[in-house]
Amino acid sequence: MTKTASAPITNLHVARDDDFSAAVLEGLGASPKRLYPRLLYDERGSRLFERICEQPEYYVTRVEMEVLRLEGRKIIDALDGEVDLIELGSGNSMKTRIILDHLSDRQGHFEYRPIDISEEILRKTSQEIQADYPNISVHGFVADFLAGLEFLKLKTSRQRLILFLGSNLGNFEYGEALEFLKQIRRGAVTGDWILLGIDMDKDPAVIEGAYNDAAGFTREFMLNLLDRINRELGGDFDRSGFQFRAEYNQAGQRMEIGVLSRRKQKVFLEEMDRTIRFSRGEWIEMEVSCKYTPGRLQWLLREAGLQTVRQVSDSRGWFTLNLCRVP
Ligand SMILES: C[S@@+](CC[C@H](N)C(=O)[O-])C[C@H]1O[C@@H](n2cnc3c(N)ncnc32)[C@H](O)[C@@H]1O
Repeated sequence: MTKTASAPITNLHVARDDDFSAAVLEGLGASPKRLYPRLLYDERGSRLFERICEQPEYYVTRVEMEVLRLEGRKIIDALDGEVDLIELGSGNSMKTRIILDHLSDRQGHFEYRPIDISEEILRKTSQEIQADYPNISVHGFVADFLAGLEFLKLKTSRQRLILFLGSNLGNFEYGEALEFLKQIRRGAVTGDWILLGIDMDKDPAVIEGAYNDAAGFTREFMLNLLDRINRELGGDFDRSGFQFRAEYNQAGQRMEIGVLSRRKQKVFLEEMDRTIRFSRGEWIEMEVSCKYTPGRLQWLLREAGLQTVRQVSDSRGWFTLNLCRVP
């Protein structure tokens, strides 16, 4: 049985229901229709994402884990001085454990502050980590990335190492990713460190395969958002009217993942008394996953005003971990 110990959880996302309904209305009212990836992570969505990470086609988690195993110690050794740890979008914190091990060896006590929009997985993970690492102080925050970071801004006198793993940054378009990094910088203080896990561009077949797992978990992850809208907003989405699609857009170097409407149809959202119309073949984007070339990554970090201290990758250059410093 998994051990758990109590770890405080602070909910900064108190208007969660309002955020969900506003984001769904905005996204389904837009042209083209777009639902933000954060909406995918209700309790079931978070569990489905864990299953995706276990699929043989989904190299992203496996390769990042390999890089952390091989190079994690060197990354921690590159930090000068003791740090506290913040993680944006921590999920099940599985890969983070490698960092927690190295930091525990190096400095004994430190604070770990996971931030995640998905309360159930954050609560469970925080308790498990606290039980397994009695030397660290765990306090979880249910919050949007930037709101959580802003809240924690002046809460410690030590430098912070801010983790953003899982190529989460890829969920932003390139311009948005730059804006997001600039906002992280504003939420950080001089001397803080940022560790970014970035999925690099590679053979399109490998990338496309990762999001089209044979067991169908990615498909289910997307369709679960339609179920969530039905459940939380009184919607009447009929799953069979929508088809999952995940395609690599080679010119844009990004995966585009979502569903297509199989026919002309209407969906009614009872909670908001709103009808949404779909034409035949209409696309709802639910997630993009932008891939990076070394040049584009260098550009991004430079434009965001971050100093790259160390960059490590696997032998094929599929995934990079980038340790940056806030000047
Ligand atoms: C792609 S998963 C990555 C999980 C984990 N870091 C990993 O690398 O396996 C994204 C995580 O970020 C969380 N998340 C997504 N959007 C978020 C947002 N805007 N603010 C806070 N958390 C968010 C999700 O709930 C999920 O746990």
